Amino acid sequence: MDRFYVTTPIYYVNAEPHIGHAYTTIVCDVMMRFHRLMGETTFFLTGTDEHGDKIVQAAQAAGVDPKTYADRISGLFRQTWPKLNIGNDKFIRTTDPEHIRVVQDVLQKVYDAGDIYFSSYKGLYCVGCERFYTERELVDGKCPDHDKPPIEREEANYFFRMSKYQDWLIGHIEANPDFIRPERYKNEVLAFLREPLEDLCISRPVERLSWGIPLPFDRKYVTYVWFDALINYIAAVGYPDGPVYRDFWPVVQHTIAKDIVKPHGIYWPTMLKSAGIPLYRHLNVHGYWITDEGKMSKSRGTVVRPLDLVPVYGLDAFRYFLLREMVFGLDASFSEDALVQRINADLANDLGNLFSRTLAMTAKFFDGKVPPFGAEPDGMDQDLRASVDQAVRQFTEEMPKLGFHKALIGIWECISAANKYIDHVGPWNLAKDPGMLTRLQTVMRTLLEVNRTVAVLVAPFMPATAEKMLERLGAGKKALDVRIAEDARWGSLGEGTPVQKGEALFPRIESPAKKTEKPGTAVQAPKPAAEKKAPKPEPEPAGIIDIDAFRAVDLRIGLIREAERVPQSEKLVKLLVDVGEPGESRQIVAGIAKTHTPADLVGKQVVIVANLKPAKLMGIESHGMVLAVRDGQDLKLIVPEAKVTPGGRIS
Ligand code: MSP
Repeated sequence: MDRFYVTTPIYYVNAEPHIGHAYTTIVCDVMMRFHRLMGETTFFLTGTDEHGDKIVQAAQAAGVDPKTYADRISGLFRQTWPKLNIGNDKFIRTTDPEHIRVVQDVLQKVYDAGDIYFSSYKGLYCVGCERFYTERELVDGKCPDHDKPPIEREEANYFFRMSKYQDWLIGHIEANPDFIRPERYKNEVLAFLREPLEDLCISRPVERLSWGIPLPFDRKYVTYVWFDALINYIAAVGYPDGPVYRDFWPVVQHTIAKDIVKPHGIYWPTMLKSAGIPLYRHLNVHGYWITDEGKMSKSRGTVVRPLDLVPVYGLDAFRYFLLREMVFGLDASFSEDALVQRINADLANDLGNLFSRTLAMTAKFFDGKVPPFGAEPDGMDQDLRASVDQAVRQFTEEMPKLGFHKALIGIWECISAANKYIDHVGPWNLAKDPGMLTRLQTVMRTLLEVNRTVAVLVAPFMPATAEKMLERLGAGKKALDVRIAEDARWGSLGEGTPVQKGEALFPRIESPAKKTEKPGTAVQAPKPAAEKKAPKPEPEPAGIIDIDAFRAVDLRIGLIREAERVPQSEKLVKLLVDVGEPGESRQIVAGIAKTHTPADLVGKQVVIVANLKPAKLMGIESHGMVLAVRDGQDLKLIVPEAKVTPGGRIS
């Protein structure tokens, strides 16, 4: 039996859950549900990180003791997850006795291995991060995360001999290219490791910080937060000899954002190595959600709270948006306008329409019962079936590689093919001709099967919607019990099974809700579209497009990694362009060879259209277009004013 174990970071209890925490936790939930769908046994862990200076300070500010404070905020996290349909198996707190026991056990093992020593240390310390910084890590003399200068601090403390494992770790990362993914974060860790690795301070004197786990070999000290926090991943599953630990630890994948790559990519593997514990299998690192105003900030009131959004826009729409909008590994920007646009275009129009049209026509033409495949499928039926197969293939290939947005794109290509199929075939015309009954049966059965497969594929992302769809297709199952092998098998809907038409899966939203993120602001529900057809918008003057049309063009920054001339062509060069898609570059053929040599091009950042239909130029596939401007005989590429992260969306 294949197994899957995924973890989120354990969140600090000094802030309430926001969209960043929600994203990581939803991504893990989607992964867990995908692996369930594939028939694997899964374990999903989340929890809270409760020790350290930061928590003591937050508790003091709230006028309560650290434990009362930690209980309160940990409770907020714990109550939030079911509201986002998170199916975690366990919620660990670093104040749990079992966690404390395992931390002390591991510390003792590392101590016994001779990898912990006592020494005095003087350095630059950031209170926010609870760690010392090297000069090199500071930006303009300030902590890059907190934008504050660190304070100078001297202390006698215990140190973990991390440096001893530097070469070993480099070797491990190089031998296991998927250990840290996407690749950019593997490279980031390898870049850290190119400099000499310093040993890690792992304690605080108890007189300065009592809110921590005492070191088993010196009770005058408590454990420094990372050595405490990281161990949650093994404590929660019953290290050292519990059955869940035995079964699941070998396959564990940690999922985090880019802020905590170093502790997870360097401290944790070296700690595990020293303690003689096998390493994790993957570290999955995603980017940051930012808002229109930039980084979320409590003081500026720009923190986006999931529980403000869900009652307004719906849980599944929110989950879908997060997974569709962020390319795993890159930053993404959150706005309610973008959310509304996705709801209307992808969910209400594409998916919602397909589902309601299919069921309404089944009700009308076949008394609401699944018809048999009457006539032999024709070319169009076969094409649609092929697009379903392609969506399933893309889904099963991309999901384990963290290509969530690509899996969704594949499903939506199939949904859009099915909507076009309806428009082309016109089942309502077939229904007028009794001689076409068997053809109509095949058409409607094909559509019902497409809807059923789509319901199965969207289940990890939108479990409640999948359940609703399957229920109404007469194939009712709890989302967690759906299995791709059985439930997405073509033709398996029961002939004669009643199906139910009903309310729209996703009502259209006419205008974005009033911004919901200001604390204390009453949330105003967005206006749902009128039940009947909305009045037609005024036609735009010729040549004018609205903002939606512009947004439909996926313009991104791409970094040209490779370039070579296309043989026998004067104009064409074949490029491999990094457009921020984890683990791969796009092949793009561009007509710029007369003005640019391959050597000019490699390393250049350019603007590309990323969602152009693939085309073949001189037999070579091209997946996008590079933007340039003609100036007489000359051609100039459009480039960003300064280097940016490849994949950045242009808006
Ligand atoms: N307690 C540590 C983690 C210990 S794990 C052994 C910690 N906690 S945290 O509360 O600060 O959570 C950080 C994590 O929250 C990120 O790694 C990410 O999962 C999530 N996010 C917080 N802000 C985020 C965004 N703006 N965008 C995306 N995710 C972010 O660090």
